[in-house]
Amino acid sequence: MAFPPAFLDELTARNPIEDVVGQYVNLKRSGSNLFGLCPFHGEKTPSFSVAPDKGIYYCFGCHKGGNVINFEMEIEGLSYPDAVRALAKRAGMEVPEDEQYQSRYHQQERLWALHKEAARFYHSQLYAPVGANALQYAAGRGMPKSILTKFGIGYAPDSWTALVDWLRTKGYTDQELRDSGLVTVSRKNGNLFDRFRDRLMFPIIDVRGNVIGFGGRIMNNQDKSAAKYLNSPETLIFNKRKNLFALNLAKKSKLGYMILVEGYMDAIALHQFGFDCAVASLGTALTEDGANLLARYTEQVVLIYDGDEAGQNATKRAIPILEKAGLQVKVLQMRDAKDPDEYLKKFGADRFKLLLEESSNRVEYQLNAILKKYDLRDDDQKVKYLQESAELISTLVSSVQREVYGNRVAEKAGIAEDAMKQEISRAYRRRTYQEKKKQEKIDLSPVRNLQPIDKKLRYDNMKSARAEEMVLSQILKEPALFEEIPELKPEMFSSEFMGRAFSQLLGRYRQGLEVSLSGLTDFTPEEMACLAGITQRLTGPVNHEGLSDCSRTIREEYQKSQTKTLEDIMLYREKMQKSKGTKP
Ligand code: CTP
Ligand code: MN
Repeated sequence: MAFPPAFLDELTARNPIEDVVGQYVNLKRSGSNLFGLCPFHGEKTPSFSVAPDKGIYYCFGCHKGGNVINFEMEIEGLSYPDAVRALAKRAGMEVPEDEQYQSRYHQQERLWALHKEAARFYHSQLYAPVGANALQYAAGRGMPKSILTKFGIGYAPDSWTALVDWLRTKGYTDQELRDSGLVTVSRKNGNLFDRFRDRLMFPIIDVRGNVIGFGGRIMNNQDKSAAKYLNSPETLIFNKRKNLFALNLAKKSKLGYMILVEGYMDAIALHQFGFDCAVASLGTALTEDGANLLARYTEQVVLIYDGDEAGQNATKRAIPILEKAGLQVKVLQMRDAKDPDEYLKKFGADRFKLLLEESSNRVEYQLNAILKKYDLRDDDQKVKYLQESAELISTLVSSVQREVYGNRVAEKAGIAEDAMKQEISRAYRRRTYQEKKKQEKIDLSPVRNLQPIDKKLRYDNMKSARAEEMVLSQILKEPALFEEIPELKPEMFSSEFMGRAFSQLLGRYRQGLEVSLSGLTDFTPEEMACLAGITQRLTGPVNHEGLSDCSRTIREEYQKSQTKTLEDIMLYREKMQKSKGTKP
């Protein structure tokens, strides 16, 4: 899909990168750059840079980078054309539509509309005579009408084609019905049937307010043949790894933290009882995408999974994922009830609030988990308990924390505080030693350090590639430098994507267009990140001599590679001739 270059230039001009990034990241100026906490990886000190003059962003930590379109793609999880469209919308611009593109976007818009229609239909059925049972079920589970309305909860009638028929009258084609995931196709005759039948329906709504899928619950717990919950399949508009249930509501919460639970009903109950910051993952374990999404709206998460073993295991897995996204994690240990829904309805909001207040941070939670594994009356086990706890405590950055938790563990095991202290520093030294070794290994392989992260972009000729990087960074600083290296041609570049960048930039220069990375098209996100990294790392001043040196290096290396291939051909021919000659 190609957009006209002039359109893309205007799009970039009307979406200053610092404004677009500024919607997600708190940026502070430092020289010609702006810095903030990287939205793509968890960090405590800012290594995420935005260069308004170059129109790019680059993270020195995770090496993500690119122009404003790349940023929009990455942060919103959009394809290239959809990111362009979103930015055009932001700037109030018309998008010159390519037919193919238009049809894809159109398809999405139709699916959103279809889902909205389906949600309306299900909701209305809840109050129709066929929905009497479902309404009763909802009431039996303590959901007031206000909550049914707020979450758009509905009922899928016990019929094979109620939804199919309804959507057809609304003008949706069979293809659209199939694409929606809300119908199944009969293998026998290709007829369409409702996927959800006789289920209480929970619409899944994305952060922008589009209905993108449904979860449906059976209402008869006795029926063991049917799955308790049935969810929409993955579709053009529904990716369950990248969405969280109720985030559309929770993102507006004023509570300042988020609660992450396992089930639809848990999230709904929490909202009902005033904890309007609750979200649930969608029938899968929490994913990195889910955690990053959450991290966009809060810094602190309270994790409340079911009290059973599965829930505890899920908690253990979720903690590092959330922390990696830069979130502070607290864990609320469910007790006296299976899950938050049950707890709230049994004991009410006030008692839940107490539980929430005493919810422990992850260290307390993990220390508890270690404690549970060992019987402290047994000396061997006591030693293991102390060692494992010391290992965990030694990872804490704050010495105050190390002391507090160390003392607590010492007390539990009935040993002297000093002995515990020593155990912790031993664990600490062991780990830092190992980490140092690891870092040294990385530092000692400079070539690897200078290579692009993405394997596909690895430089074959390091010497030439370094020079190519330098040329690009200089040109981007001062486009008129093109005049000083007329002998340098894109095909001489040893790195394919850098040659392509050089060629496009030169084309823009000749046309009198702005020479910047934001004007490049048809580069993969990895290539853009690499280019952004080059301009952000090589920040030296314009250097005329250095530039011509680099140009010479590139040409020499190119010559070498050419003669090499020539030599190779000659050698090959010789060999062939010889082998022919020796044949009888
Ligand atoms: N889930 C699912 N498919 C199932 C069972 C569960 O997708 N067959 C997902 C649903 O998203 C559900 C979550 O896992 O909300 C938690 O499941 P569970 O704890 O069994 O259900 P509850 O949330 O407690 O639901 P309820 O209170 O209605 O029994
Ligand atoms: Mn439940």
